Amino acid sequence: MAKPTEKISIEKSESTKINSVDFSKLDFGKVFTDHMFVCDYENGQWQAPKIMPYQAMTFEPSARVFHYGQAVFEGMKAYKDDEGKVFLFRPKQNFERINKSAERLSMPAFPEDYFFTGLENLLKLDNDWIKPGLGNSLYIRPFVIATEPAISASPANTYRFMIICSPAQSYYNSPVRVLVAEHYSRSANGGVGAAKAAGNYAAQFYPTSLAQKEGFQQIIWTDADTHTYLEEAGTMNVFFRVNDTLITAPVSDRILDGITRKSIIQLAEDLGITCEVRPVKVEEIKKAAKDGSLKEVFGAGTAAVISEISAFQHKDELFEISGAEDSYAKLFKQTLLNIQYNVSEDVHGWRHEVK
Ligand SMILES: Cc1ncc(COP(=O)(O)O)c(C=O)c1O
Repeated sequence: MAKPTEKISIEKSESTKINSVDFSKLDFGKVFTDHMFVCDYENGQWQAPKIMPYQAMTFEPSARVFHYGQAVFEGMKAYKDDEGKVFLFRPKQNFERINKSAERLSMPAFPEDYFFTGLENLLKLDNDWIKPGLGNSLYIRPFVIATEPAISASPANTYRFMIICSPAQSYYNSPVRVLVAEHYSRSANGGVGAAKAAGNYAAQFYPTSLAQKEGFQQIIWTDADTHTYLEEAGTMNVFFRVNDTLITAPVSDRILDGITRKSIIQLAEDLGITCEVRPVKVEEIKKAAKDGSLKEVFGAGTAAVISEISAFQHKDELFEISGAEDSYAKLFKQTLLNIQYNVSEDVHGWRHEVK
């Protein structure tokens, strides 16, 4: 699909950092590949895109992104199979979502051909950074920031779209313990919760740090109005298994339309597992935990694929979840990994080979 295009100028790095990286001990998101993709928006249009060596950039202190948080991003991964072929998973969904996020933050849409040509050429240049083997991947971070040097509180006239990449191993491997939010909220009706807006994540850091002091890794956010419905966790949508039925909250303007989530809903249908998409009451999940019908709780997102939740606390009650022998979490994780790494058939056409 990617053409070594007339549209993109490519400046190759003269050296590589790859030999200084220990791929067996990667600290997530701290090491970046040799190249990055950059495209500026000026005079009402996206200018000629470039790939260049990964490097620091300079911005004026007045750049609007620093003052009003006009910034959106995406998170996706590239996977390599045992023959060295490289795949993306449902990348069009990420492309569409970054533009949906951008629209909500009053930012211009990025063109699809620039997105894919830029991304695929970048992955080809940094191919050696994508290691084969289940769990190894290249985390891809497309993002857009408002660069205009002006501090009046209004949308910028200039932006920068970029893609940077960071090698990753699977993380959140061990089951996590979560706290159900009772006071703080990550999003509100009519707000920006459904956008991958940078500020949504900053807003979670403080309440999450309080939860961490109490021994929980994550918070399960509840609806801001009543704190009685379970919504999503950190960077994951959440699924509950009561007896053999899966339940997950519907997406809304408070909840991100996760690609892993929608893939699991489809896989459940394929596997004949009932999945109810409906508001999930905190009380019903507590009741299910008490009467033993709550078999599993897990988060779903690109970074960890599936993250099993072993306990949750609400008010002063702690519930341990023992897990099921026939774990849905493990089944979905394996099924997704097999599709992502080109191990199994891809009946829905979710794999996108980078050629
Ligand atoms: C708030 C939030 N919810 C859910 C997800 C999971 O979405 P996806 O499966 O597309 O990675 C993410 C990660 O992107 C997220 O940031």
